[in-house]
Amino acid sequence: MDTLKTHVTDEEARLSADDVVRRWQQLDGPGREAFLNGVRFTEMRGGALLAYLAESVAFDKDARKNIMRQARDEAKHGYYFSQIIEHLGFEEHPVVDDPLGLGSRNPNELRDVDEETRILFFMLNTEAIELRASVIFDGLNRIFADDPFVGRYLNEIRYDEMFHLGWIGSRLDVLAETRPEVDGWREASRDALAGALAAYEKQVDAAARERASSSSS
Ligand SMILES: [Fe+2]
Ligand SMILES: [Fe+2]
Repeated sequence: MDTLKTHVTDEEARLSADDVVRRWQQLDGPGREAFLNGVRFTEMRGGALLAYLAESVAFDKDARKNIMRQARDEAKHGYYFSQIIEHLGFEEHPVVDDPLGLGSRNPNELRDVDEETRILFFMLNTEAIELRASVIFDGLNRIFADDPFVGRYLNEIRYDEMFHLGWIGSRLDVLAETRPEVDGWREASRDALAGALAAYEKQVDAAARERASSSSS
């Protein structure tokens, strides 16, 4: 089954592509560099964590296969953002502030909870992240509409994300039929992520301003 979710609403993502375009226009050079490095980091780190998670799955073959694919896709997206950053004349720099609280978490701790719970947590968190990602890439597609190099990578990334959202969404839909509370958890995950990212953006913007003033002095 290769389910694709081809449209994400602003309500689902708690974000609109216009918000993304507006934010980009307000950012200066260092801010844009930080923004793209943040996306690069999120993809790269996601790929690494998903590889750990997939390897820990013994019974749920469908989840194992899809998470494996997703791990590969996310690491590839991280690399594509390295290419985009270089193409645009920005610097790739290490990201130490982790927007999603994933960096400080030891992925092997996942083994402490049973497989079903592990996969459920993964699906709830990841669906919220992927919904936003799809709107962010829609915004980036608009920002770089005249740049075929960037567009080519973004289109491939967006196609992959439709698959990630498709398989996770259809699994959660099926689960919600017998456990209606699942839909409430999905909404709560989206709210929590939107809140965490709003706080993170402030921090990144401040750090970018600091980098700009220390490199110009
Ligand atoms: Fe991705
Ligand atoms: Fe993804």
